[in-house]
Amino acid sequence: LLGIYGAELNFPVYVVGGFVRDLLLGKKNYDIDIVIEGDGLKYAKYVSKYLRTTFVEHKEFHTGSLFFKDGFRIDIATARVEYYEKPADLPKVEISTIKKDLYRRDFSINAMAIKLNPEEFGVLFDFFGCQNDLENGIIRILYNLSFIEDPTRILRAIRFERRFNFKIEERTLELMKEAINNNYIEKVTGMRLREELEKILSEKNVIDSIIEMGELSIFDHLFWHSKYKKEKVERFKKILKFKKWFENKCNIKNKKIKDFHIFLYSYLACENGEAAIYATERYGLPKKFINNLNRLNIIIEKFKTLPFKWKNSDFYNILGDIDDELKIVISGFLTSKEMEEKYIKYLKAISNLELKITGKDIIKKGISGKKVGEILEYIKIKKLDGEIQDEKEFLERLVI
Ligand code: CTP
Repeated sequence: LLGIYGAELNFPVYVVGGFVRDLLLGKKNYDIDIVIEGDGLKYAKYVSKYLRTTFVEHKEFHTGSLFFKDGFRIDIATARVEYYEKPADLPKVEISTIKKDLYRRDFSINAMAIKLNPEEFGVLFDFFGCQNDLENGIIRILYNLSFIEDPTRILRAIRFERRFNFKIEERTLELMKEAINNNYIEKVTGMRLREELEKILSEKNVIDSIIEMGELSIFDHLFWHSKYKKEKVERFKKILKFKKWFENKCNIKNKKIKDFHIFLYSYLACENGEAAIYATERYGLPKKFINNLNRLNIIIEKFKTLPFKWKNSDFYNILGDIDDELKIVISGFLTSKEMEEKYIKYLKAISNLELKITGKDIIKKGISGKKVGEILEYIKIKKLDGEIQDEKEFLERLVI
């Protein structure tokens, strides 16, 4: 249908980018990017009318998106040459042909198009040996300034390399290193970098990507005032494993748990305050981030000073009421197998803890004021340590 509508308007219509790449790889991809040689906006409005979709227009970029009722989405753009007024800026656009449009894209594997108009339906447009690179598993930029104009491509190269188990071509890697070392990452807005980082963190081979990013010194450019160390990767690996356990066993389906936050807590723990302030401002982190990071640092220090015989209440006294993200991150800072086992035992105990008495029961015994809360807390701790079975009876004995 998309091709037929194009023919009716006399515009060549192509599906491009990741969809074509994944189609050739035999992988599913429901992100459809359409490019029109002609007036993309006119085409989008036309299609939207016939398919009864919601149309959102991005005038400046000559693009628009069609939203179907079931959540399915198609992005439509006018074939364009993007030129950048300053390196790392968002591109300005100029109308052009499909070949030029494809040439400005990130990597050859993402620079193919398939025509949809009925007379040439299904014809693959590959101007730059892209299919060859796809078959040989090569990530290659199409022009030398690619990383300079859009440094987020540095992160994208690693993401695609790890996702498909491909290799970054030699010259591409050289230019990538040059862009990193000449501080081009710093020229991109934090939001665009955050988006790419979040995508890397949501991929399967996240640990390999992180190691590679560390070795290329990408983290030192992303997070000023802190230094990449291999042990940070080991720690994050442990934390990710623990997160799976935590979500399953503690029955937590907390949408607020973000891998991006978990990574940053784990990466920036034990670093100085400047590192936290920099990351918070640059990547739009929530206000609680710095407080939580300080809290985490205090917790790590306290872990060092505690007696060998850990009870649930020792964890409770140190951790207090921390949020789920921190509960997960802490798993990376437990220094022995025994401590890990005890921490797991503590989390199970605290998530199952239900007191059979409330403040009212204590007040009924003639106690008032601050003492009520203190007694309740005392009973909670005793229960956590398994020293009380029946808290009602315990309360009776306590007040006598
Ligand atoms: N693109 C680009 N430069 C970027 C981002 C995107 O040239 N910095 C182009 C690529 O041609 C890419 C297409 O825009 O294929 C769509 O981008 P996006 O949806 O981010 O990536 P996909 O390739 O579809 O990858 P994914 O499977 O991760 O969605």
